[in-house]
Amino acid sequence: MWRRVGDYPVEPQPLEVSMDSEAKITPILIISCLMVATAGLMFGYDVGNSGGVTSMDDFLKKFFHSVYLRKLEHKYVHKSKYCIFNSQTLQLFTSSLYLAGIIATFFASYTTRYLGRKLTIVAAGFFFLIGVVFGVAAQNLGMLIIGRIFLGCGVGFGNQAVPLFLSEVAPAKIRGGLSILFQLNITVGILFATLVNYGAAKIHPWGWRLSVGAAGIPAFVLTLGALVVDDTPTSLIERGCLQEGKTVLKKLCGTDNIESELKEIIEATRVAQQVKRPFRELLKRHNRPPLVIATFLQIFQQLTGINAIMFYSPVLFISLGSGNDASLYSAVILGSVNVLATLVSIHSVDQAGRRLLLLEAGVQMFISLVMLTLVLRWYAIDKSGNLSHGTALTLVVFICTYVAAFAWSWGPLAWLIASEAFQLDTRSAGQSVTVCVNLLFTFLIAQASLSMLCHLQYGIFAFFSGWVVVMTLFVYFFLPETENVPIEEISDKVWKKHWFWKRYFIDDDRIPKRIVIVP
Ligand code: BGC
Repeated sequence: MWRRVGDYPVEPQPLEVSMDSEAKITPILIISCLMVATAGLMFGYDVGNSGGVTSMDDFLKKFFHSVYLRKLEHKYVHKSKYCIFNSQTLQLFTSSLYLAGIIATFFASYTTRYLGRKLTIVAAGFFFLIGVVFGVAAQNLGMLIIGRIFLGCGVGFGNQAVPLFLSEVAPAKIRGGLSILFQLNITVGILFATLVNYGAAKIHPWGWRLSVGAAGIPAFVLTLGALVVDDTPTSLIERGCLQEGKTVLKKLCGTDNIESELKEIIEATRVAQQVKRPFRELLKRHNRPPLVIATFLQIFQQLTGINAIMFYSPVLFISLGSGNDASLYSAVILGSVNVLATLVSIHSVDQAGRRLLLLEAGVQMFISLVMLTLVLRWYAIDKSGNLSHGTALTLVVFICTYVAAFAWSWGPLAWLIASEAFQLDTRSAGQSVTVCVNLLFTFLIAQASLSMLCHLQYGIFAFFSGWVVVMTLFVYFFLPETENVPIEEISDKVWKKHWFWKRYFIDDDRIPKRIVIVP
């Protein structure tokens, strides 16, 4: 799903295994996939962890004393709480991970190619472990941020190599599902973090260390898993280890008859090596439709505001007037809805189609966000400072309907559509752009959300609802349906037939494909 960055040769592409394949879905294949997919859990854990710990008093007292004092003051003085957590350094604690992730992706692009997927995932595991150790042992803000930076390196390396690993070892028939499965792992990781936060908040004064430290479990599984799994046959063959590649391929396929798979791998490696400058290729006119679509889908995914909620839901609930405990279990409810709705997406994406899911979700998210704005506006008028039980419940319900809509649409589909949109020669480079744009906007949302909450107050929900209108119109007018279209036929069957995007192919069709020089 997420690939490389930089103007150098692309990875070999995922293979289309032909019909005469005898490849089976073997236990070793399943175990390998499960082991490396722990990186999704790890990423999700990091998303869900920061908001939880920043809502804990012990943590604030130690690292963000002024925020702690502000929180204390608001406990006793009845006034608007929107600005309690408005601190650039507090937001940096969350966002630094994504900034480090963007930079790490550039390095991971090289290591996935030259050292292999396996070693890149091993490196991700070690980065995660180091990050966790720094976090657990942190005595000052510096150590805490260094820990987040290491975690970010883990995210950059893991998110680059793991989806590539999965797409290279999975048989064609289950490859599509793996893309959403990675997303499912992210949501499970978020839920796991919210559950740990809920329990750890009751342990004083070191509960937050437990919260940060629990990330060590997926980090450990990932590192161990990466050390024991074999590298992908594609990566081995690409780096000249043909014999070893064949042996691993036989193991994964559970048969000695691997001729068709081997042929595909060698062909894919050849195609990948032919494209010398994939990023230049990406900018060519006929590649603009997928590039624009993939980029905008990532920008819009973040402008839904999902991470303002995923990162900060516990502090958001406190800012809206809930107690500490209620805030943390509200986050658990949201995390559960997120997982369940992602399962709905896995089930319905190939029946309902991408467009329908996105359009329906657009309407549902818009209504939810507008309702949140209105409820908070009415609530804000009395300025009592605390949420009544009824108001809190109404807010949780609307945030749940919003999160559910996101989780069956923009969450998985922004990634899925991007991975389907590019042609073979630019797919890898296109995916790298996709990852970077996503991490960049994730960083911006992480860095800005709490300040926006302070300045816009309940208007923050109206702000995101405006973007939801824009992105839904974008989907309606510009996003063609890619469901059931074989990836290699997307150009002819989708782009060239679309009312807007077809103009990018007119010149292409006029230019003769080959110039024959007659002597
Ligand atoms: C997004 C993440 C988000 C997660 C929530 C993913 O698709 O890329 O930024 O935190 O969904 O489930």
